[in-house]
Amino acid sequence: MRIVHAASELFPYLKTGGLADVVGALANALAERGHEVVAFLPGYRAVLDGLAAGATVAAPREFAVQLGEQRLAGELLTLTPRPGLTVRVVCRPEFFDRQFPYWTGGRDYDDNDARFIFFQKAVVEAMRRDGVAADVLHCHDWQTGLLPLLVRAEERRHRVSLAGRTVFTIHNVAYQGVFPRRSFALTNLPESLLSMDGVEYYGKISLLKAGILFADQVTTVSPRYAQEIQTTEFGCGLDGVIRTRANAFRGILNGIDSAVWNPAVDESLPARYSVHDLSGKKVCRATLLAAFGWDEKFAGPIFASVSRMTKAKGHDFILGAQEFFAREDCKLVVLGAGERFYEEAYRRLAAAHPARIALSVSLDEARSHLLEAGADFFLMPSLTEPCGLNQMYSQAYGTVPLTSRVGGLVDTVVDLDERPEEGTGLMFEPGQTGFDEALRRARALFRDKERLAAVRARGMRRDFSWAHAVGRYEQLYRPAP
Ligand code: ADP
Ligand code: GLC
Repeated sequence: MRIVHAASELFPYLKTGGLADVVGALANALAERGHEVVAFLPGYRAVLDGLAAGATVAAPREFAVQLGEQRLAGELLTLTPRPGLTVRVVCRPEFFDRQFPYWTGGRDYDDNDARFIFFQKAVVEAMRRDGVAADVLHCHDWQTGLLPLLVRAEERRHRVSLAGRTVFTIHNVAYQGVFPRRSFALTNLPESLLSMDGVEYYGKISLLKAGILFADQVTTVSPRYAQEIQTTEFGCGLDGVIRTRANAFRGILNGIDSAVWNPAVDESLPARYSVHDLSGKKVCRATLLAAFGWDEKFAGPIFASVSRMTKAKGHDFILGAQEFFAREDCKLVVLGAGERFYEEAYRRLAAAHPARIALSVSLDEARSHLLEAGADFFLMPSLTEPCGLNQMYSQAYGTVPLTSRVGGLVDTVVDLDERPEEGTGLMFEPGQTGFDEALRRARALFRDKERLAAVRARGMRRDFSWAHAVGRYEQLYRPAP
């Protein structure tokens, strides 16, 4: 099949969160299965800087699209990182040549509507110019929510076929791409769509809603989250809209890219290891301790957290447990960036307890691997979690995840106390009480070396590869006979 993906992030070109890992790994897995895959992403500054470092790029192609009253030009870069996969980068410096992809100083850019409507129109224009219809156009998150509509509008205008079917994946229903009503003019779509059954959302417009309503198939990234977001508690206002698509909606659990997140082949680590020989994990542990200026021989438990610093990731509970981390003979290492409130709170905490708590406010891919490998326990006390990747990375790296019972965490972690023979992690109801109790359970588990070794080994033996998910996407992509 010829499969086109469109997303705002794609590993290894640009990553601020799990979206990049998932679209990157899925595109690769589909190419490996013999499909012809094209992935579109915006030409952010970081993407172009990365390309300058050596990728083979075909000569840029110019294009122009209509954005409301204006005709705007751009350039399309094409690269082929591997057989079967073509990456197409939509460039327009005015929109994308900025330090951060979505916001600066904690505030969204004012022209995110124009930026991402331009991106989506460029995707459709490139597909039209290619002259080869895709079997599937697979769109991810709000930045591509209008694509199902835009592609059909273009097909009608030019009397061509561009995409057999459209698929829209919700990676996080909390991010909805809501803009003022007047932004609708930038789409050049018929006014009739600016209604309750269309793109309109409480007097504004929502790009996520458009994707949910108008794609042929809608998915999200775990079965549990698929149930959750049909309820008012988790639907962030879109549960009703999602329920109207119940027949075309399902949860497909993400996998992990075992070429990238695999301790046996991970080149970013100081030593590699596997379930058969964990000595490399000890080297990673020593390197991690040294990286933060601590004694490499420290023998107590190391807790790690790697995540976007937002409320939904449960940072209030980690901060709320500061007495535990300050008092116990343990280490806490936090890698993250995001809301200033959390960055500052962690800064104060680390400064008050430098012997036990360390913080790195940065986006640092290599360090995130070192934390997964060097730690004993990984903290994910999320309030909501569509899928979550780090709990899977943790299990693969022999690091025991502490996770709340929400979303994809429920689908990927087995609680040790509930199923002592199969457990791979410690789970709790989201909240301070459950998290504090999980820390105490972790402390006890760390003392029971035999049990800890068994939990680690079970986690490392689990298969989180993309093999399962790819089959499910292929089923979805194939038109019903
Ligand atoms: P989300 O997409 O909601 O942020 P996921 O668990 O799906 O959550 O994915 C987060 C991804 O981003 C993981 O690969 C994680 O390692 C990575 N990540 C988050 N924060 C950082 C950081 N500060 N430095 C490096 N990687 C990070
Ligand atoms: C989103 C979600 C996260 C999920 C990721 C990849 O960013 O917050 O839970 O793992 O997308 O699908």
